[in-house]
Amino acid sequence: ETKRFIVDNNSNCEKSYTQAVDLLNNGEVVAFPTETVYGLGAVATNDEAVKKIFEAKGRPSDNPLIVHIGTMEEVPLYIEEIPEKALLLMKAFWPGPLTLIMKAKNGCLAESVTAGLPTVGLRMPDHEVALTLLKMLKKPVAAPSANRSGKPSPTKAVHVEEDLQGRIPLILDGGATGIGIESTVLDVTVNPPVILRPGGVTKEMLEEVAGEVIQPTKSQASQASTPKAPGMKYTHYAPEAPVYLIESNIPKVRHAVASLKEQGHSVALLAPSSFEKIGADYFFPFGDEGDLEQMSANLYDDLRACDKTAATIILATTTNNDGVGAAIMNRLEKAAGEKWYKE
Ligand code: TXA
Ligand code: MG
Repeated sequence: ETKRFIVDNNSNCEKSYTQAVDLLNNGEVVAFPTETVYGLGAVATNDEAVKKIFEAKGRPSDNPLIVHIGTMEEVPLYIEEIPEKALLLMKAFWPGPLTLIMKAKNGCLAESVTAGLPTVGLRMPDHEVALTLLKMLKKPVAAPSANRSGKPSPTKAVHVEEDLQGRIPLILDGGATGIGIESTVLDVTVNPPVILRPGGVTKEMLEEVAGEVIQPTKSQASQASTPKAPGMKYTHYAPEAPVYLIESNIPKVRHAVASLKEQGHSVALLAPSSFEKIGADYFFPFGDEGDLEQMSANLYDDLRACDKTAATIILATTTNNDGVGAAIMNRLEKAAGEKWYKE
């Protein structure tokens, strides 16, 4: 029931784009790749269409959506006042994995996009398929990640198929996404701006352009009485079996694997490639030790792969919080529900 069209440079994909644009114009949803993860899009000014996103994903309706645009000229159509720093950041990082939360213009976007908030998140994705689609459509596209709510975000078209088969009419398949974790969400309605969700554009990169930026610590984020990014209060990125975090240390992990197996567990291990031969029942590599780009590109695919095994427990090795490491650790901690392996 769900069609999947491969759109790459080699095939003639004009027809695929036309079908996607027609579906969107007719109030349907379409999944498409971005440089971060696959999105499930609907025209952001069509409330009926946007509601179909929440329905297909099983997403709580109080969790607002990011609006994707294809050109800078569109920003003032949806934003009341564009902060100076926001302009600098757009110029520096768009198209790219940075979502800016700004005050929305009244009545310009469908109500369900913002879930009743006075603000809206805008971003211009850095992916040829997404940009081609947006430029052909000439309308803003509201799009959360194209997974069922609670599952890891999709980094491949097959992940979207696994989750949403039969629930959506079309997936544009542009191959694996590059970055593999979702965009940085930055609240620029406050000064200094606050990182609501860490991502590919790091605190350091933002500060170089816009001066001081706040990256709340975990406890600060969880102490906030109302979560600033509503999505942060829900379970995320979780495979079926429980995930435990463990330091990236071969002797320690070997010992943990052996002791879990002795307790009768079937163990899946997510770790750098050098951990392959230490005895886990299933092994899913993050890539080369210390290579954060490979780790973020592989993380969700690896978490999803665990669901295809008979593993009863999942161990995932951690990284430090430097640079993109902060975003990776944020997703790992969510997948693990903050649980660390203890002997
Ligand atoms: O990389 C990405 O951002 C991907 C691709 C598809 O663009 N999209 C994505 O969307 O991750 P989603 O809906 O899965 O995550 C959006 C996050 C949620 O945590 C949501 O609560 C937050 O952004 N958010 C959206 N609008 C907001 C607003 N007005 N104020 C605060 N947080 C907002
Ligand atoms: Mg999501």
